[in-house]
Amino acid sequence: MTKVTTVAVLGAGTMGSGIATVATRAGHRTILHDLTEERVERGIATVRGFLTKSMELGRLSPEQGETAIAGLTGTTDLADLAGCDVVIEAVFEDLGTKKDLFGELDGIVSESTVFHTNTSTLSVTAIASGSRRPERVVGTHYCNPAPLMKLVEVARGQHTADWAYKVTADYLASVGKTVVVAKDMPGFIVNRFLIPWENSCIRALEAGLGTKESIDAAVTGALGHPMGPFRLLDVVGMDIHQQVAMRLYEQLREPRFAPPPMVERMVAAGDLGRKTGRGFYTYDDTRLFGS
Ligand SMILES: NC(=O)c1ccc[n+]([C@@H]2O[C@H](COP(=O)([O-])OP(=O)(O)OC[C@H]3O[C@@H](n4cnc5c(N)ncnc54)[C@H](O)[C@@H]3O)[C@@H](O)[C@H]2O)c1
Repeated sequence: MTKVTTVAVLGAGTMGSGIATVATRAGHRTILHDLTEERVERGIATVRGFLTKSMELGRLSPEQGETAIAGLTGTTDLADLAGCDVVIEAVFEDLGTKKDLFGELDGIVSESTVFHTNTSTLSVTAIASGSRRPERVVGTHYCNPAPLMKLVEVARGQHTADWAYKVTADYLASVGKTVVVAKDMPGFIVNRFLIPWENSCIRALEAGLGTKESIDAAVTGALGHPMGPFRLLDVVGMDIHQQVAMRLYEQLREPRFAPPPMVERMVAAGDLGRKTGRGFYTYDDTRLFGS
């Protein structure tokens, strides 16, 4: 059985930097990979910023925080991932990109390395078909922001082996996550509810039911959510919301999944949320996730 000590995270964006934070904070040697030095550096800065803030808030001891910061490195070269026990893919939501990456990694990592995909809407089985060893591929869908949200949905592909599932469950326990088992179906469990709900909040705003502030306040105050829908969408990214909503709509053909017109307008304007400094709200701090 693979004992996980070294973890690679592919994609240093919103989710990749969050997932890398989770791995290094738990004491795993962690390598963050992206296509350009600039993106890798931005991802590492995000992780360091989060860990530093956690130390300031007393959520991590200085020793834990410094160890976590020292345990994270970055690369643009897939060959550097050769010694990894788990590779977690958090790249663009594109089937071809994800399949190609796993196919390329087959020739780099060992036979016992497990591949995780953080896809939101694609089939784990289809992504796994990019690897010559689909039995090693498992869907692990983190909630955003990954360092703060405990839940991870785990979905086996058609050919996922029991040993790979066990390594995955043990790994997620080692980083303090709670697992919910989901089927390899579009949107797993959470996005089947979350996407139509976020769309209905946007439609309510479009219809003038309230302001973004009053709708956020109503949801946090009455429903007990930690964040209102518009704060959450700013963390998720409007481009990602649009993509996920469209893909679920295309697969499920239910209008409630279709992104409302406001989404397209905001994406066209570049008002993507925290990552661009402006979404529903404006931000001085464009780190990909807050503390
Ligand atoms: N944003 C969310 O709330 C959320 C939640 C759960 C799951 N997801 C899923 O996580 C994945 C990533 O989403 P995100 O929001 O972090 O996107 P993002 O756009 O913030 O980041 C994606 C990163 O992947 C990199 N990338 C693209 N192709 C690559 C390749 N071939 N090799 C290495 N890096 C590559 C990009 O350069 C970019 O930095 C998607 O599959 C998405 O559906 C997103």
